[in-house]
Amino acid sequence: MDKLQGKVAVVTGAAMGIGRSTAVLLAKEGAKLVVADINEEQAAETVRQIQEVNGEAIFVKTDVSKSSDVQNLIETAVDRFGKIDVLHNNVGIALGANVVETTDELWTKVIEVNLAGVYRGCKYAIPHMIRNGGGNIVNTTSVQALAGFEGWAAYAASKGGIISLTKQVASEYAKHNIRVNCVAPGTIDTPMNLKVFEEAEDADALRDTWNKMHPLGRFGKPEEIAEVVLFLASDSSSFITGQCIVADGGITSKAE
Ligand SMILES: NC(=O)c1ccc[n+]([C@@H]2O[C@H](COP(=O)([O-])OP(=O)(O)OC[C@H]3O[C@@H](n4cnc5c(N)ncnc54)[C@H](O)[C@@H]3O)[C@@H](O)[C@H]2O)c1
Repeated sequence: MDKLQGKVAVVTGAAMGIGRSTAVLLAKEGAKLVVADINEEQAAETVRQIQEVNGEAIFVKTDVSKSSDVQNLIETAVDRFGKIDVLHNNVGIALGANVVETTDELWTKVIEVNLAGVYRGCKYAIPHMIRNGGGNIVNTTSVQALAGFEGWAAYAASKGGIISLTKQVASEYAKHNIRVNCVAPGTIDTPMNLKVFEEAEDADALRDTWNKMHPLGRFGKPEEIAEVVLFLASDSSSFITGQCIVADGGITSKAE
């Protein structure tokens, strides 16, 4: 339980879902946590869960689509804890439409939050990591970056961009002892998908289809993605950088 003892970790989108599970797990492993999100109420619950496992956490209200917010997040983390060792750029929004139905507004919103949010996190955290002698960035992409799924043009493009950006930043900043990787989840049981089911005509049928899409026959749990983030954020993966670890219950290995 001490893989991140003495480390400081910033997790964006930590108010629920994968971000919350990751924040709590990193705290259990000894990291001090900076919980970033737009949702104050749910972020307070994440902070409470971290304190429950004897961790230390602060919340910084952050909209990752605003540069000034992300700059403030990083500066607040450094002011409070003196450094940033781990940045988990995890925020993502799922707005679905095929390419023909995608509006400029939807396209811009998804790219601004999902992809530019990652760019902003890297931009503001890396100078501090360099001064601190190194650091570790883990970005959340998706299987939708790796294979086509109907109706998700902007989302898929944003997630593909995250893989490219991960490789670019990893190769450029390796000389500063900064590792950068990403995790590509399959379908994970989080509030993000609850919303998709609420909007579906037949939620049970959709859930069944999605379950069957995974050779393991089920959705993943946020805790299963948090374990991958911990691996990438800790010295357990000390020779891995610029990589995308796929945690998808086998979806992208399937022939049909
Ligand atoms: N759940 C899945 O099936 C799945 C699959 C593949 C990839 N992902 C990716 O995993 C990441 C986390 O997904 P999740 O399922 O936990 O999502 P979620 O919707 O359950 O949680 C996302 C969190 O991000 C916050 N958020 C949204 N917009 C924000 C913004 N502009 N600034 C700051 N915070 C913001 C929300 O308040 C929420 O707390 C996302 O990048 C998502 O694309 C999820």
